[in-house]
Amino acid sequence: MSLVTIERMPGEPAASRIAVPLGARAYDVVIGPGLIGTAGARIADRLGRRRALVVTDETVAAAHLDPLAASLSGAGIRAGHHVVAPGEGSKAWPVLEGTVEAILSAGLERSDLVIALGGGVVGDLAGFAAAVARRGMPFVQIPTTLLAQVDSAVGGKTGINTAQGKNLVGAFHQPALVLADTEVLSTLPDRHRRAGYAEIVKIALLGDAAFFERLEAQGAAAMTGGLTDAIATAVAAKAAIVTEDERESGRRALLNLGHTFAHAVERCAAYDARIVHGEAVGLGLALAFRLSATLGLCRQDEAARVARHLRAAGLPTTFADLPVPMTAEAIAGAMAQDKKVRDGIIRFVLVNRIGDAFVSDGVDPETLAAFLTHEGLPPS
Ligand SMILES: NC(=O)c1ccc[n+]([C@@H]2O[C@H](COP(=O)([O-])OP(=O)(O)OC[C@H]3O[C@@H](n4cnc5c(N)ncnc54)[C@H](O)[C@@H]3O)[C@@H](O)[C@H]2O)c1
Ligand SMILES: [Zn+2]
Repeated sequence: MSLVTIERMPGEPAASRIAVPLGARAYDVVIGPGLIGTAGARIADRLGRRRALVVTDETVAAAHLDPLAASLSGAGIRAGHHVVAPGEGSKAWPVLEGTVEAILSAGLERSDLVIALGGGVVGDLAGFAAAVARRGMPFVQIPTTLLAQVDSAVGGKTGINTAQGKNLVGAFHQPALVLADTEVLSTLPDRHRRAGYAEIVKIALLGDAAFFERLEAQGAAAMTGGLTDAIATAVAAKAAIVTEDERESGRRALLNLGHTFAHAVERCAAYDARIVHGEAVGLGLALAFRLSATLGLCRQDEAARVARHLRAAGLPTTFADLPVPMTAEAIAGAMAQDKKVRDGIIRFVLVNRIGDAFVSDGVDPETLAAFLTHEGLPPS
């Protein structure tokens, strides 16, 4: 039974509200068009008229900061802003320092608000800054990429990257409110729209076959119209998993479906802009299904069906689709550095069928090498 409810807001038929019932850390995720225009009133309603600092990036600021600032001041919330450079490079120590300093020098108190306006980079950075400034301040997520709306803004994982790897420093810090304005997605480049869509498909594949069928039926239209419902369904599913396992000691690991492969691919591409995370996830999902089929766990035709849908959405589904050449040795080597490796055994999320994923005990290195070669990668 899911603890999550989806409701319509009175007077605003298009907005859905999903409650994330985490006790003292409970919060709502509101999804619908035009929410930035009503953000001030919604924040004041739920969290009071506190002072605030909006953290955003240059690209998002140019398109969406003014309407948010007007909405906040219209509701009596005094807010400054702190703008960082766009891109993964902002999830870094110096940018974190600058953000925390901005919070402190704005004179915000411990009960004042940090507001993250942007994609997963801004959300992870601002959330971590809020977690550590004054030993923890409340923060609001206003995610502006599809990936952030369906994935990173919900669940409370925050953090930055270091020279040793991605997301190695951070904190669990749940937001006090998430406002996902679907209208802001109109300015999002198609490539990032496809990348976010991969995470929606992931949610369907790991636990909801009927949702996958709806996505298949909608086809390419799922990425434009019909997106609000898909976002709400994906958020409700993620919220249910997070509620059950806030700190990833069990079921939350299923959200890593496709990600052991995806992280290895990103590492082999040096985390640069040639491959964005969601594209790697698209390939990773196709590979997780084909590996499961190879191991006799799932039917070949299910794996083919998953790949067909991902391909129709414009996502890579084979190594040959990537703009960066890779080898079996490099992929296996990158996997061996994954956080999920213990004693040389690489843990994967595998599938019995569409909508039924589980965490495997591990796949031995020889089987993995044979699989990667069969996928067309040269050995070295
Ligand atoms: N915390 C979590 O649970 C979690 C989950 C998944 C991913 N992540 C993290 O999220 C990050 C990726 O997030 P992302 O894909 O949103 O990337 P991003 O934040 O870098 O945004 C992608 C690009 O789109 C631009 N942009 C954002 N919103 C826009 C809009 N509405 N219109 C036009 N341009 C817009 C940004 O400026 C940026 O250049 C990674 O660092 C990843 O580690 C975190
Ligand atoms: Zn992901």
